[in-house]
Amino acid sequence: MSHAAQPLPMTSRRSAPLQGEALVPGDKSISHRALILGALSVGETRITGLLEGQDVLDTAKAMAAFGAQVERRGPGDWSVHGVGVGGFSEPAGVIDCGNSGTGVRLIMGAMATTPITATFTGDASLCRRPMARVTDPLAGFGARITAREGGRLPITIEGAAEPLPLTYRTPVPSAQIKSAILLAGLNAPGETVVIESEPTRDHSERMLAGFGAQIQAETTPDGHVIRLTGRPELRAQPVAVPRDPSSAAFPVAAALIVPGSQIRVPGVSRNPTRDGLYVTLLDMGADISFENIREEGGEPVADLVVRHGPLKGVEVPAERAASMIDEFPILSVIAAFAEGPTVMNGVAELRVKESDRIDAMARGLEANGVTVDETRDSMTVHGMGRVPGGGTAATHLDHRIAMSFLVLGLATESPVGIDDGGPIATSFPDFLPLMRGLGAELG
Ligand code: S3P
Repeated sequence: MSHAAQPLPMTSRRSAPLQGEALVPGDKSISHRALILGALSVGETRITGLLEGQDVLDTAKAMAAFGAQVERRGPGDWSVHGVGVGGFSEPAGVIDCGNSGTGVRLIMGAMATTPITATFTGDASLCRRPMARVTDPLAGFGARITAREGGRLPITIEGAAEPLPLTYRTPVPSAQIKSAILLAGLNAPGETVVIESEPTRDHSERMLAGFGAQIQAETTPDGHVIRLTGRPELRAQPVAVPRDPSSAAFPVAAALIVPGSQIRVPGVSRNPTRDGLYVTLLDMGADISFENIREEGGEPVADLVVRHGPLKGVEVPAERAASMIDEFPILSVIAAFAEGPTVMNGVAELRVKESDRIDAMARGLEANGVTVDETRDSMTVHGMGRVPGGGTAATHLDHRIAMSFLVLGLATESPVGIDDGGPIATSFPDFLPLMRGLGAELG
């Protein structure tokens, strides 16, 4: 559903030491994929720990519109009876993916090699985001695409009746592009190949293998190469969704910047393709330990113990960007409390997320007394160990910008405001009660 409600202004203020346990929600990337792969499988896929954020609920609704039987059995507990690869039926109405780039791009891929027609749309943020990066390769499979000016949503796709497999080098490192191509490749006979310059999050590959597809990945001098054999019979699987490292980043950041804090964040995925923020925080001198390392639902998982302490500015190399692409907004908040500059390189993709995240963070931090330099593809935050605060940040329908500024205000001298906290529900519906439970003053 598109976010059309009235803006919901919020404020956060300097808080006493944060303490306790933060049970963050299920991983958003894995939740979308569990619903989509469940819908493309034969049999019942039972999903536990599903993120019930609006982005994922929109994907659940879309899978029902394409013919899968999708049922909520209890909190986070969902059942999907799939229709099999190539079994999608034509939806009766427009598919509205709300705020979710992952939802719309993956679902466009999943239907593009089935001979049905579907029209996709989203909210104001999603309708501004580039889609040609996905529709161009889908046209290579034989799908016919009609898009608005600039390749934007709303978009209508006529799926290919006789799809051809594709070999494609992605123009930017993007798990969404890679995954859209792999999902389209499922119903194309022969081998579909994706080549990426840097490895991106690999949940699609892990889960496709788990559902019975033949898929291999290797790093070659030419890039990271993924090969998928088309027309498998996907077999329904139980999926236990681990907790989201990108959502965990908010309470972790809060504990790092609020003096005297110590919190525990159990069961967080430590998939190496999602781990860049944690590598960077350790570089900055953050006191984080990873306990009880284990495997859950095919993903490495750990309990995080985080304590406040001094932090120093660092340079984040461009090669690390893909493994922390959603964490730069919250890293820029942490960096504001460090001593010295933190330089983030190779981050041009941030300009085409739910908002232009470099611009949104730079303007909001400046409004709160922090100096920021930006180029097209880099951002430098000049940390001074303390942040005055007192400003209001514009969040541009972007959940991560909203949560980042609410975390900032927990350690600033004066309170920090945001113009709209509504979009937080897209990825972290219990953010406010969870943070308040740790002692954070916000709302
Ligand atoms: C995602 C991939 C990333 C990320 C998004 C989720 C995914 O986007 O920003 O929040 O689930 O595949 P890109 O792959 O386009 O960078």
